[in-house]
Amino acid sequence: MLRSAQVQIGCDAIEPSLSFFVKTLGFRVDAIFPADDPDTVMLSGYGMQIRLQRGAARGVEALYLLCDDAQAAAGGQTLLNAPNGVSIHLTAADPPMKVPPARQALVLSRGGDGQWSAGRAGMWYRDLLPDRHGGAFIASHIRILDGGPVPDYVHFHKIRFQTIFCRKGWVRVVYEGQGEPFVMHAGDCVLQAPQIRHRVLESSAGAEVVEIGAPAQHITMADHAMVLPTPERYPDRDFGGQRFVRHIAAQATWEPWRKDGFEMRDTGIAAATSGLAGVRVLRPAEGRNSTAAQQHATEFCLYFVLSGQVTMQTDGESIALAPDDSITVTDTTRYRFVDASADLNLLEVSLPAAFDA
Ligand SMILES: [Fe+2]
Repeated sequence: MLRSAQVQIGCDAIEPSLSFFVKTLGFRVDAIFPADDPDTVMLSGYGMQIRLQRGAARGVEALYLLCDDAQAAAGGQTLLNAPNGVSIHLTAADPPMKVPPARQALVLSRGGDGQWSAGRAGMWYRDLLPDRHGGAFIASHIRILDGGPVPDYVHFHKIRFQTIFCRKGWVRVVYEGQGEPFVMHAGDCVLQAPQIRHRVLESSAGAEVVEIGAPAQHITMADHAMVLPTPERYPDRDFGGQRFVRHIAAQATWEPWRKDGFEMRDTGIAAATSGLAGVRVLRPAEGRNSTAAQQHATEFCLYFVLSGQVTMQTDGESIALAPDDSITVTDTTRYRFVDASADLNLLEVSLPAAFDA
């Protein structure tokens, strides 16, 4: 029966390295031999076992020790050098989220380009925002080619904002405190509130989702302790200032959009994030095909064509948009929508939720 595992670290002389690992880093000695002239020391600490071996090649270049407060752990030093040459990196066990300022740009992504790359777990990614707005945002169109169970585990994300919009097919998911697993169909979406535990269970073949997140780079952490679904429901729990949202397209009602000419179904994400972000689906109002011009001081605003056609007219150009095309506008873009087809459905994601124009 296997019991435990050790990493061998070599050294020229036992004593300086042993002293460093015990006195400086806080490891403890589990075994040492031979007694008269030790050449092997077994050390343990922080869930790790080390076999310090005199005469062996160093083998390990670096050790990462995760700390509650990396700055305080070794008197302000975050990189130590062991006598045997191993670099000891002290890093935060629970690193804070870094949010770079947004660098806006008008970014057009054509759905027909076919620029898909293989991601994790059989998923294909189309990057809708290669410039990431300076690292502040990420927008991906994701395809799961093969249907069936998804090899996922209970996890959460350290994020400021994240929404998943089901574009095609269906995806079965489960969220902490939100009851039994449920199926998201095309047109449905969720707000993944910061750090809410969740798991993707299953999908149809060819399912597609659009995922918008902030910041672009964030940490995904597994939660090995939580089992989903949770026995209790807590739909109104606050996760970093946000509530979980499940928006079901089939139950949605339509209301006027902020600009005359289009109407919208609101996903409820504006209310659930206290105005941090808005996610809406737009369509032309009865008998209309255009909107008035607008320009707004939003931090982020992306449109993604779900169905139909529309042209975005800016001061300089006319950009015809077709299904799967997406475009971001900046706070200096003055634009209006024209020539919308009757079957146009346009996803709008913005931060903040409210517009000043
Ligand atoms: Fe996730």
